[in-house]
Amino acid sequence: MSVFVTGDLHGSLGMHRLDSKRFPEGTSLTKDDYLVVAGDFGLVWDFGAEELWWRDWLEARPWTTLFVDGNHENFEALSRLPVEGWHGGLVQRVSPSVIHLLRGQLFDLGGRTLFALGGAASVDRALRVPGESWWPQELPSEQELACARETLDGCGWKVDYVVTHQCASSVIPALYDGAILQGPDPLSDWMEELEHRLVFKAWYFGHHHVDRFVPPDHRCLYEDIVRLGELQEAWDGRG
Ligand SMILES: [Fe+2]
Repeated sequence: MSVFVTGDLHGSLGMHRLDSKRFPEGTSLTKDDYLVVAGDFGLVWDFGAEELWWRDWLEARPWTTLFVDGNHENFEALSRLPVEGWHGGLVQRVSPSVIHLLRGQLFDLGGRTLFALGGAASVDRALRVPGESWWPQELPSEQELACARETLDGCGWKVDYVVTHQCASSVIPALYDGAILQGPDPLSDWMEELEHRLVFKAWYFGHHHVDRFVPPDHRCLYEDIVRLGELQEAWDGRG
């Protein structure tokens, strides 16, 4: 089983990244292989013709797409999808092989565990319209965070991989070389406990729109597509 991870897609805007030229590995994958999107998936948004076309295109890829939610998602629309169990955690299916990993869930992908936690605060909140382009559910609720904690209690605070949209506050400065463009939010503060308590091999996240390896075990993803377990930035010009 192969598992790849990439950053924000923002609906059709990021789909070029997944074509066979930029993601040649994808052509040899099967539906038992996974591409995980670290939030701002964006293809459950307005149900317009373009969006539905891209959803069909994604469903037709050889692999299964998994995503944690970001902040730029239509949370009302997402909330209408039925919840089901999948590989040890709870998910919502957008289509048979396009799957939303719910917040605070732990999944077993062929013997490797992956803890998922979507959500972040929008930095462009002032430009967005509640109920049309912004939803308060972009940040996890107290209940969702309690559920996340329960999940981690259940596995003894030890997982193989973490995939989130935001990262912990203490990781953010390394992404901007000192020029802070996206500051902490309540979720990134909450994630500090994970930083200090959770044992993991690698933590992947999106949201900040940069591709950066933050030693020793964090990877901010945007346009890069890396294998689960790999951390280094891509130098092949794929981004
Ligand atoms: Fe984004």
